[in-house]
Amino acid sequence: MHNFTIKIKPKPEKCDVFVGTDLFEKIAEYLVEKKLGNYHVIITDSKVKELYAKTLLERLQMRDLKAVVLDFPEGEANKNRATKALLEDKMLKLGLGRDTVVIALGGGVVGDVAGFVASTYMRGVPCIQVPTTTVAQADSSYGGKTGIDVTYGKNLLGTFHNPRAVFVDINTLKTLDKKNYINGLVEVIKHGFIKSKKLYDFFHENKGSILNRKAKEYSKVMEELMLLSFNVKKEVIEKDHKEQNLRKILNYGHTIGHAIEKLSNYTLLHGQAVAIGIAVEAFMASKLGYGSKEIYQAQKNTLELMGLATKIPEKMSTKDIVTTTLLDKKARKGLPEFIFLKNIGTVKRFVLDSVSITLELEVLEKMLNEYRKEFSS
Ligand SMILES: NC(=O)c1ccc[n+]([C@@H]2O[C@H](COP(=O)([O-])OP(=O)(O)OC[C@H]3O[C@@H](n4cnc5c(N)ncnc54)[C@H](O)[C@@H]3O)[C@@H](O)[C@H]2O)c1
Ligand SMILES: [Zn+2]
Repeated sequence: MHNFTIKIKPKPEKCDVFVGTDLFEKIAEYLVEKKLGNYHVIITDSKVKELYAKTLLERLQMRDLKAVVLDFPEGEANKNRATKALLEDKMLKLGLGRDTVVIALGGGVVGDVAGFVASTYMRGVPCIQVPTTTVAQADSSYGGKTGIDVTYGKNLLGTFHNPRAVFVDINTLKTLDKKNYINGLVEVIKHGFIKSKKLYDFFHENKGSILNRKAKEYSKVMEELMLLSFNVKKEVIEKDHKEQNLRKILNYGHTIGHAIEKLSNYTLLHGQAVAIGIAVEAFMASKLGYGSKEIYQAQKNTLELMGLATKIPEKMSTKDIVTTTLLDKKARKGLPEFIFLKNIGTVKRFVLDSVSITLELEVLEKMLNEYRKEFSS
C-alpha cells in the first residue's frame, strides 16, 4: 500500500491518500485514529451497496464505530437535488449533528452527491472518499469538486469540499463492467499525455495486465499506474486549486470532448467522448504546428488499443460541434479554448506562459472537417 498527503486549499488543507488492495480495514483503522466524528454515514448507490457496503459497515462496526449505510438508485440520472434532499432528510431523521462523517463509497456519481451533502450538512462535515470506479479513482474522488445535475445542465450546483482522505482500493475495479472500466482509464492516460511521459511509457509496457484485469500482476501494476496518475493531478491541484492557469491542462481533449458528449445526448460516456476529443485536438496540434504528426498518431493509437473509437460520430454535424464548444463554461470571450501538446508529457506554452489558447471558429471548423476527411480516405 502507498500512502501520501496532498496539500490543497481551501480547508481542510491536507488530504490523506491511500492506494492499495483490501483497504476497508485500513479505513476503519484510520477513522478510529483520526476521530473525525462520532457517527459515520456510508453513502452509496444501489449497485455498490450490494457489492461492498456490507463489508465496509462490518469493518467499522467491528471497531465500535457507529455507522449506517444510506443508498440511492445507481446512475447519473439520480445525481440530482431530489437525491441530495432525500439523503439529508434521512440523516436529519437519524438526528445526526455536526459530529457526522460522510463516507462516499462508489463511483463519481456517489462521490459528487455525497461530497455535496457533506459540504452543506450542518454547514459542512468531514468527508472520506472510497472510489470504486476508474473515473472516481483517477479523477473525481480528490480535488474537492462536488455537485449535482439540474435540468439546465450537468454539475451546475456544487461546492469545493476537499475530502479528509481518499482510499483507492484497486480490487474494487475487478467487478466494474468493461465499458466503465475503460471510460475512466481515458483520464489516466490523459494525465500521461499532458504531464507524464513516464506514465505513458508504463502504460504501454504493461498494457496487457492493465487491460486484462485477470492477470496475476494486475493489482500491482494498476497500483503503480494510479500512483503515476495521482502524481500528475496532485502536482496540478496543489499548485492551482481554483482552476486558473495550470489546472486547465486537465481539460485536455475536453473542449471537443464535452461538445461530443453533449451532442450524443450523453449516450457516449464522458471518457468515450474525451477520447475522440483528445484525438481531434492532437490532430489540430499537428496541423497548427504545435506538435508533430507522430505525437498525434501516438495518442490516437494508444486510445484505439484501449478499444476506444476516435472517429467523430457521423450524425453530428461539424457546425453543431463548433457551436456546442461555445456553450462550455470554460469558453473564453466567446471563443473555445484549447490545450495542445508539444510532446508526450509536455503541453505547449503560449503568451505569458499560458497553457491554453483560443481559436477562431472558422479555424476550428476547418480542422474538424480535415479530421473527418482522414477517416474517409
Ligand atoms: N468531481 C469531479 O471532479 C468529477 C470528475 C470527473 C467526473 N465526475 C462525475 O463522476 C460521474 C461519473 O462517475 P462514474 O463513471 O464513476 O459513474 P458512476 O458513479 O455512475 O458509476 C458507473 C456505474 O458503475 C457502478 N459501479 C461503481 N463501482 C462499481 C464496482 N466497483 N463494481 C461494479 N459496478 C460499480 C455504478 O453503480 C454505476 O452503475 C459523473 O457524474 C461526473 O460528472 C466528477
Ligand atoms: Zn474529464
